[in-house]
Amino acid sequence: MRTQVAIIGAGPAGLLLGQLLHKHGVDNVILENRSAEYVLGRIRAGVIEQGTADLLDQVGAAARMQSEGLVHDGTEICFGGARHRIDFRALTGKVVTVYGQTEITRDLMEKRTVAGAKTIYEATDVSLYDFDGAKPRVRYRKDGKQHEIECDFIAGCDGYHGVSRQSVPAKSIQSYERVYPFGWLGILSETPPVSEELIYVRHERGFALCSMRSPTRSRYYIQCSIEDDVEQWSDDCFWDELKRRLDEEAASTIVTGPSIEKSIAPLRSFVAEPMRFGSLFLAGDAAHIVPPTGAKGLNLAASDVHYLSEALVDFYQSRSAGALDRYSARALARVWKAERFSWWMTSLLHRLPGASPFEERMQLAELEYLVSSEAASRALAENYVGLPY
Ligand code: FAD
Ligand code: DHB
Repeated sequence: MRTQVAIIGAGPAGLLLGQLLHKHGVDNVILENRSAEYVLGRIRAGVIEQGTADLLDQVGAAARMQSEGLVHDGTEICFGGARHRIDFRALTGKVVTVYGQTEITRDLMEKRTVAGAKTIYEATDVSLYDFDGAKPRVRYRKDGKQHEIECDFIAGCDGYHGVSRQSVPAKSIQSYERVYPFGWLGILSETPPVSEELIYVRHERGFALCSMRSPTRSRYYIQCSIEDDVEQWSDDCFWDELKRRLDEEAASTIVTGPSIEKSIAPLRSFVAEPMRFGSLFLAGDAAHIVPPTGAKGLNLAASDVHYLSEALVDFYQSRSAGALDRYSARALARVWKAERFSWWMTSLLHRLPGASPFEERMQLAELEYLVSSEAASRALAENYVGLPY
């Protein structure tokens, strides 16, 4: 088989890149090692920046998000038992949309099927060849048979644990990493959200987040130990702990119910530089991870593939490699801004094991400053709603 761009991974990065390329007549094949159902079963991001929404619109995959997504003009930050509102619209003129990553993935998969573009699910043992030479190729196994795809370029959109970044010789890649000593325990429940807007909570017992997927479906998270096993957390334990961390009003009005999904996510900051190795380009979680506190992971995956699709389309339309040469620096400039914001939000709102009493008071002082200074609130809002591309 031959294609122009072989895309590894059918997460949001791979699927969006596939549609952006398809729209401009660039042929591509996606290889995904899981089944479509498995990919759709992963509950992850919920907050969509306008830039990400615009890209979905460009590929005709925004209709359901526009009708079912929830537009949020602001968010609430809770500490010391009181909530404070950050008004995105007043401070920046922009808003975010709350719409699940699962739904975005489903919408992009449907578009891809309608377009007749090829996605090979359950492609195992994916391996990359000669991306630093003249004949890049990707091999995989499917139904017990070995296959090979010849291509001009390979897009590594296969997430943090994928094969693409791991195929690059260690000496060619520089990575920067912080692993946080806690995780997020998240549950999804068929209950109305406790508040119309998201509530980010800093509490002595640990961080909590009240989010949602629809007016009848809630998504809640609490900071937990990385040693915790999800089996240890019954639904009752989860709700009790969440209530302890909320303000009185939220704790007394929250509607609880059985969880329909429950999982623990570790928190990590990670950047691999550069994001290009010959004809292999990394995008999304394959190149970088942010802790989820700033809601930036999916949005960064979208901005990477925006830059990459522009560069690839430019190459095929004008035979100019200039934009491809600039891809890594362009994407990384935005990545580091999101890394800073996500690290800062994480440090501001979590109980940091080993923090001294002074450091704990500084966290509160920083929060007080944040909600009382218009400049500080605006800085948060500008980063949260999304920096320009
Ligand atoms: P992935 O979604 O990881 O997709 C990679 C794909 O590649 C997967 O389908 C995988 O199966 C496949 N793959 C892996 N290895 C191989 C292989 N060897 N061969 C073939 N295929 C392979 N981000 C936000 O922007 N906003 C939020 O509110 C937010 N909340 C989050 C909450 C949680 C609890 C978590 C865990 C994450 C959150 N994120 C959020 C982050 C966001 O989910 C990720 O950044 C996003 O999924 C990245 O997309 P991706 O396509 O780069 O990678
Ligand atoms: C959600 C996840 C996040 O990481 C975040 O910062 C806000 C919302 C969510 O899953 O809804």
